[in-house]
Amino acid sequence: MPKKIRLGILGGGGDSLIGILHRVAAHMFDNYDIVGAVFSPNHQESLDFAKEIDIPLNRIYPDFDTLISEELKLPESERIQVCSVQTPNFLHFPMAKKLLDNGFHVICEKPMTTTYEEAKILRDAHKKAGTIFAVTHTYTGYPMVRQMRELVRSGALGKIHKVDARYYQGWINPIIHDAEKRKTVWRLDPTKAGISSCMGDIGVHAFNMIEYTTGLQIKSLLCDFNYLYQDNVMDVDGTVLIRMGDHVKGVIRASQVATGEENGLAIRIYGEKGGLVWEQERPNFLYKLSDTEPLQVYKPGHTYNSDLSLDGTKLPAGHPEGIFDAMGNIYRGVARAIRGAEFDPGEFPTMTDGVRGLNFIEATVASHKSGNTWVTLD
Ligand SMILES: NC(=O)c1ccc[n+]([C@@H]2O[C@H](COP(=O)([O-])OP(=O)(O)OC[C@H]3O[C@@H](n4cnc5c(N)ncnc54)[C@H](O)[C@@H]3O)[C@@H](O)[C@H]2O)c1
Repeated sequence: MPKKIRLGILGGGGDSLIGILHRVAAHMFDNYDIVGAVFSPNHQESLDFAKEIDIPLNRIYPDFDTLISEELKLPESERIQVCSVQTPNFLHFPMAKKLLDNGFHVICEKPMTTTYEEAKILRDAHKKAGTIFAVTHTYTGYPMVRQMRELVRSGALGKIHKVDARYYQGWINPIIHDAEKRKTVWRLDPTKAGISSCMGDIGVHAFNMIEYTTGLQIKSLLCDFNYLYQDNVMDVDGTVLIRMGDHVKGVIRASQVATGEENGLAIRIYGEKGGLVWEQERPNFLYKLSDTEPLQVYKPGHTYNSDLSLDGTKLPAGHPEGIFDAMGNIYRGVARAIRGAEFDPGEFPTMTDGVRGLNFIEATVASHKSGNTWVTLD
């Protein structure tokens, strides 16, 4: 095993939702060591958290600019190699851009930036830097999602004609109805989240899942949002009709006010020869539907799965793996890329996915605001 990759972390502190997922994922295949971080805008909180999780304090920096300037003073053999950006959305662009401009590899949370314009600037910076850039659309790391992609690619469904991706959550429901409470959530604040709450936070995962599994691109869309209240400027629910090519159509349904729903991401793909159904809350079951054969259920770890799917399973069949493992698979793909080892393009979403995501988010807002008209994606 080559030496561990030196990982830096931005955001993802003890108070965060996503930090634990990244830290576990980074350690999962023994590929990374966390050597530096800014876990919080409050330096003392960053230091306290680093102490708690036993990371040396000498590289816990007061802010992101100091992390870069101090790391650049270190010899390359000691310097952070890859930084993982896990802050609220508005910080992704300035952090990722400066990291790329200074030659670091980047793992970036979604949505990659808050505007399409920023995403394109980042793409140019990445081209110049030539380093590895991954966007953590976590769900692509599940073995059964990878299997779905491989089944579609192998022609198991024939020509695709219908796609339906749904991402229903209910957590904003108890918050949105209270005018004071809804001011306290960064996902409902356009200066922190970007122009969209629901599509920007979860609709974009559904969008990515469709393009990841089908290998097709969404060409145009028509979107209808619900904001629930006049004074709420951020969508909390949306339905998007999508066109992916001649006679390939579908729908993305996303909601943060689907009362009682937890993390209900599900994708259905239908082709002339069959259909595939996968649900995030039951990730170890992939259903294949047919007009002529009984229902088939694919499960992880069996040799009938593709190499890409099997690569994402650590234990023999029947030992359930979940969201931590999915993120672990993405981190492993990134480690292979950083080391210059061979890897499958399906192992982690890239800059291209990040840019597509922002193109999608802005198109949904433009469509809704123009009176629910069709908008073309680049
Ligand atoms: N891939 C996924 O499935 C998934 C799931 C949840 C969240 N996310 C994304 O992860 C990001 C973070 O979401 P979250 O729910 O963990 O947010 P959060 O509010 O729970 O945590 C944000 C963290 O960033 C830190 N932070 C804020 N400003 C900072 C700064 N200037 N410097 C350093 N740290 C700073 C905070 O202290 C906190 O620890 C978002 O972009 C979100 O869209 C992705």
